[in-house]
Amino acid sequence: KTARARSRRLDAVRAMELFHGLTDEEKSAVADRLHFTPYAAGETITRQGNTAHWLYLVTQGRVEVRTHADGLSHAVATVDGPDFFGEMALMTGEMRTADVVAVTDVECYRLDRGAFEEILQKRPEVADDMSQTIARRRVALTAS
Ligand code: CMP
Repeated sequence: KTARARSRRLDAVRAMELFHGLTDEEKSAVADRLHFTPYAAGETITRQGNTAHWLYLVTQGRVEVRTHADGLSHAVATVDGPDFFGEMALMTGEMRTADVVAVTDVECYRLDRGAFEEILQKRPEVADDMSQTIARRRVALTAS
């Protein structure tokens, strides 16, 4: 991979508030594990009930979180870059709680489960941060 792509991946890590407490060395190690995956407006990125393999870091653009029950689909929330999604199923070991659809063109980086778990093991404060985000998001999810 080119030096330029590598520096973009590092920018993606630096943009995430979640990773602010990591050392430069740790950020660079996370950056090495990212896969650049852009999505076009309207594309479905993941679906409710799917098995989770990735954490998604959105650097630019907006995605919508949608749940469906009894054949009805409705919007729960939007996530605007820089922010992440897909953490719930990865942390709980359950299925994806919602569909996630690109509202705009989205610049996105995926981090695989193994790399994600390594970070959480080395940096319990990242896990704590993420648990708080999950608790907050779950309120909106169950209220929807
Ligand atoms: P996961 O369940 O893995 O896949 C769907 C994702 O949608 C979920 O992780 C969260 O990242 C995201 N999500 C669910 N509910 C909300 C919410 N209320 N606000 C923002 N994002 C959410």
